[in-house]
Amino acid sequence: MSSSKKNILCVVGTRPEAIKMAPVILELRKQPWANVRVLATAQHRQMLDQVLSFFDIQPDIDLNIMRPNQALTELTARLLLELDAVLKAEKPDVVLVQGDTTTVMTVALACFYHRIPIGHVEAGLRTWDMQNPFPEEANRVIAGKLARWHFAPTEGSRQNLLKDGIADSDVIVTGNTVVDALLATAQRDLDLGITLPADKRMVLVTSHRRENFGVPFRNICRALQTLAHNNSDVQFLYPVHPNPNVKDVAYEYLAQIPNVTLCEPLDYAPFVAAMKRAYLILTDSGGVQEEAPALGKPVLVLREETERPEAVQEGVVKLVGSDYDRIVAEAQCLLDDEAAYKAMARGVSPYGDGHASERIARLLQEQLL
Ligand code: UD1
Ligand code: UDP
Repeated sequence: MSSSKKNILCVVGTRPEAIKMAPVILELRKQPWANVRVLATAQHRQMLDQVLSFFDIQPDIDLNIMRPNQALTELTARLLLELDAVLKAEKPDVVLVQGDTTTVMTVALACFYHRIPIGHVEAGLRTWDMQNPFPEEANRVIAGKLARWHFAPTEGSRQNLLKDGIADSDVIVTGNTVVDALLATAQRDLDLGITLPADKRMVLVTSHRRENFGVPFRNICRALQTLAHNNSDVQFLYPVHPNPNVKDVAYEYLAQIPNVTLCEPLDYAPFVAAMKRAYLILTDSGGVQEEAPALGKPVLVLREETERPEAVQEGVVKLVGSDYDRIVAEAQCLLDDEAAYKAMARGVSPYGDGHASERIARLLQEQLL
């Protein structure tokens, strides 16, 4: 039996890739036909380790590529060279990548050079604007062009792939594996691990997008300052991304405000607890846009565009960009107007039913055996 097993190399680079690939790895490990190996590029170090240890996944290969304040070119170049040696040694039958990071784009290119087929998890997300989000739109377009199998989270993402010239027969709508991870985690005993005033509503904040660096991110921080100042009965919780372009500015604007709690990135389970405890979420994260609707939490998205239009169409997520006045006005409206709040606080899950990983495993079995 073991000689007929298929070698599947699952790649993770950053926190969200690990959260969304973990259910796929765990599902494939149950399959008698699959020999699963895990490659961590470690484009993120601490935040990747947080997730892998939570899901009890030990990488078989770890490239430990992260450097402080890494530039895109340098990261891509170093990674491409390291991957060459790994693919030569591993000779996988298929490589699975997830999402739209530099890891995903670079692994796709390396696999293409080695003629190794790629399965792309969370395929087909598009804004059709190469600058937003930057560089993720280009990363997923390139990975999409090179992939053999496309695991699209929604019907909309399937349509995007067809528009991009991908054959219908190579696309399968699976749902997003983020919902698999969320449902499995939300069942556990969750502890936020941070004491917040029990009588106050809590607004959860995250932000890290490259296209917001500089003035837009300063506008976001100023808007948070104003909101905190005008709402002393509300506690803001902001686990700050370690990228210096984010961290230094966030602490500069927000560290001294009594009703703003800044902290290190939370482990995944405490972060799920934070989302459940939150009254409202302000974020530019992709993953949080998918998770919060499933938990019935309204989201204001600190971006000009989103590749996740489904929850916006449902009316439970709203784009507010990085404009100071707009962020302040929209958040204040949800804090003051109960009807407006209730209209957005509906539990909907347009991104999946918690069984995406099973569909991915089934498709791979059909195709590989
Ligand atoms: C990356 C992805 C982005 C994804 C995000 C998830 C790219 C180009 N960007 O952005 O698509 O949404 O991850 O969070 O692929 N750092 C640490 N420790 C960590 C992680 C990061 O110190 O565990 C710091 C380092 O200084 C690092 C910097 O953050 O150089 C930037 O990391 P990088 O992965 O290049 O970009 P992100 O902004 O995290
Ligand atoms: N997340 C976490 N701890 C935090 C903030 C976020 O575990 O302090 C999780 C969150 O639940 C989601 C994922 O990280 O699943 C999103 O990652 P991020 O926002 O870094 O990247 P994106 O989704 O925007 O690519």
